[in-house]
Amino acid sequence: MLLSFLRLGMGLCTAARQRGVACAAFACLSSRSGILKQEDESLMLIHKWKGAGSALTFAAGILALPLLAQCEQEESATYSQEDVAEHDSPEKEVWVSYEGGVYNVTDFLEMHPGGAQRLMMAAGGAIDPFWAMYAQHKTAEVRELLEGYRIGNLVGGAQQTYGDPYANEPKRHGALIVRSQQPFNAETPVEFLSQAKLTPNDLFYVRNHLPVPKVDSESWKVSVKGEGMRQVELSLEDLESKFKKHTVTCTLQCTGNRRDMFNGVKSVQGLEWSAGAIGTAEFAGARLSDVLAYAGLTEDSLGEVEHIQFEGLDSDISGTCYGASIPVMKALSRQDDVILAYEMNGQEIPPDHGYPVRVVAPGITGARSVKWLARIIAHREESGSHWQQKDYKSFSPNVDWDNVDWGSAPAVQETNVQSAICVPQQGQTVDASDEEIEVQGYAYSGGGQGIIRVDVTADDGETWITADLSPVHDRRNRQQFKAQPQMQSYRFCL
Ligand code: HEM
Ligand SMILES: *[C@@H]1O[C@H](CO)[C@@H](O)[C@H](O)[C@H]1NC(C)=O
Repeated sequence: MLLSFLRLGMGLCTAARQRGVACAAFACLSSRSGILKQEDESLMLIHKWKGAGSALTFAAGILALPLLAQCEQEESATYSQEDVAEHDSPEKEVWVSYEGGVYNVTDFLEMHPGGAQRLMMAAGGAIDPFWAMYAQHKTAEVRELLEGYRIGNLVGGAQQTYGDPYANEPKRHGALIVRSQQPFNAETPVEFLSQAKLTPNDLFYVRNHLPVPKVDSESWKVSVKGEGMRQVELSLEDLESKFKKHTVTCTLQCTGNRRDMFNGVKSVQGLEWSAGAIGTAEFAGARLSDVLAYAGLTEDSLGEVEHIQFEGLDSDISGTCYGASIPVMKALSRQDDVILAYEMNGQEIPPDHGYPVRVVAPGITGARSVKWLARIIAHREESGSHWQQKDYKSFSPNVDWDNVDWGSAPAVQETNVQSAICVPQQGQTVDASDEEIEVQGYAYSGGGQGIIRVDVTADDGETWITADLSPVHDRRNRQQFKAQPQMQSYRFCL
């Protein structure tokens, strides 16, 4: 019997409060495109720059004839670095160089999936060092897109070599399923997820946006500041000695978990996560609420402060760092257990997971649990970072990369209910003569909601079997359905 993963997925009825956007039988968030895609017939998927690319080809087609005479001259045009440097604003045109080529990307500015502002950092200069950092550009498709804007060559060809920002990446376990090497993104093989409640550190999914920063824990400090508060700097020792150690068992999930299933319907852009971009670990550290109180955040500040922003030490060569924020009420709630974690499953936080200290914000999407924590800012506004403002948001299926109005949707925080079958694996064939097979998987809900029930069908919904749940409890043995988010695995026999 071949189990159809999609069909089973559609049938899984996990009851829990669903928040935000109304959901179909199951819905999945796409982090890279930042668009919520629903599994229904009106599904429209996002083409991002592919759309831009085809518009370009079209425009190029129209222009081909009149430009033909100029072509030869243009191909051999050479420019000095000074020529490129003169074109560093939309008014003066935006030129960049890459390897030996010179490109006029004025028209691409507003279409850039990484934002016009980022592209402007390279305006009038080389994009090579930026792309060494954001190595997701190093694909044939992006190269082809860039070539469409070529206006000539750099005098003397590529003149500088740039250091490799990924030279200090940690060693990784070979069993991780790598979705991108630079920045490193990898998921846990799903069979481990349903077999053990806690995912071992080495096998825990990794979602990095930039190179892993090298941090010396002796000199590491986190700064905490905000309206009406005193600015404090806390070392690792301060966090360990000044604040009570708090342990929390928490499931973290990448916003794009299971995005690859969309490709069965229509191809989508972004990291192709299967069902393994999720994991549960026991984290320990200082409560964020204790640290904020220590820096003087009081009830009185609450009018001024609506968000707690976090900034990481992972940054690109221009100093732009990863950042995100969570609502202040989430940060302060004793029930919600937001911590500044210095331990993961009883060990120090591994480099890929934010050594020496990361935020762990249970019940909300993984992108807000900022790793390699450097700064905490209590503010009236949300984080202004790209990843808070122009990514990790959800829209209607009729919204495309070209017409998305990022400001019109809130940043994803708590996520909807999620469930996946881990054993047997997608596409695996099982023996039809077997009287019974065991099916295992996980179910999770954001917002601290427990899972009430998981139903599974192997015959297109004719009959259902309710799974046995084996919920993950934390040490304090909190009851299910309390604020503690849980990851639950279930087993049953057909
Ligand atoms: C002419 C130059 C550039 C071109 C043609 C270009 C093209 C693209 C394309 C096609 C993507 C989408 C990739 C994907 O989703 O797989 C992208 C994403 C991105 N670009 Fe660029 N890019 C350029 C310059 C830059 C520069 C200079 C920076 C940084 C300073 C940058 C930062 C980013 C980032 C951070 C993303 C990812 C956004 C996300 O995670 O959703 N890009 N770019
Ligand atoms: C650069 O692009 C702009 C916008 O399309 C265009 O007006 C300008 O002529 C281009 N310059 C060169 C040198 O190709």
